[in-house]
Amino acid sequence: MDAIRLSAPASAPAAPTIASVRDDRVQVVLMGPPGAGKGTQAGTVADLVGVVHVASGDLFRESVKNGNEYGLQIKEYMDSGKLVPDDLTVKMVVARLDEPDGLAGFILDGFPRSLGQARALDEMLEREGRRLERVINIDVPEETLLARLSGRWLCSECHASYHTVYNPPRVAGVCDRCGGALYQREDDTLETARDRLAVYRKETVPVLDYYRDRGILVDVDGDQPIDEVTRALYDALPLLSA
Ligand code: AP5
Repeated sequence: MDAIRLSAPASAPAAPTIASVRDDRVQVVLMGPPGAGKGTQAGTVADLVGVVHVASGDLFRESVKNGNEYGLQIKEYMDSGKLVPDDLTVKMVVARLDEPDGLAGFILDGFPRSLGQARALDEMLEREGRRLERVINIDVPEETLLARLSGRWLCSECHASYHTVYNPPRVAGVCDRCGGALYQREDDTLETARDRLAVYRKETVPVLDYYRDRGILVDVDGDQPIDEVTRALYDALPLLSA
């Protein structure tokens, strides 16, 4: 593969409308268990192909931070490692995908993670004459996941993800990308991380089968260095590898 271009195209296309776009957009879902590297990779991959990165977890953390009407409710679910109910989750993600930059294509991270959400996403895309092109599953063994989550630090501004050992920032406590302050998530305790993994097995693994049966799921080995995972994801993207 050619060297990966690490910047978005110089000039962003004019905001399309639902009626004006042909459906040749990059519309991709990144899946994988907590700690698989979705957040680490999704921003980079989205920049490479010039589409927006939409993470349901980031939307929820913003709501909690801003104290909006659902913030308290959402915080309770997140702190206990449970899924936020489908109706609220679908409403927030669909609204985000319907913004002008979302209409131009997207890399979705953390959504859908229940069969109800997967069906709701299909219905929304179909209503708008759009279609999901690819679902990429970042596959990582469970024993690796807990070590990753316990050492994770996140940017409070741009949500970039770091690790004290595997992916340290250049300056401790400061985001390489935007200079924002780094923090640790309240749900990254060992106990809650285990609960999140159990929820993943029960609610989200069936979503992988749903997409596998449709023939649009690709598995990528996430248990390799971050740059190698980026390369494998890039190769798994639909239009770029054609
Ligand atoms: P969310 O924020 O989506 O968390 P998650 O799915 O549990 O995933 P994580 O963010 O924990 O992991 P990641 O795969 O992004 O890993 P990362 O790249 O950071 O959801 C949180 C909560 O919100 C849920 O529990 C739920 O309550 C709610 N929620 C969200 N979406 C929802 C939905 N759709 N429906 C209902 N509820 C929802 O990497 C982890 C660490 O590993 C980092 O430190 C990173 O530096 C390191 N790392 C990454 N890749 C590598 C590598 N290749 N080698 C070594 N280290 C690596």
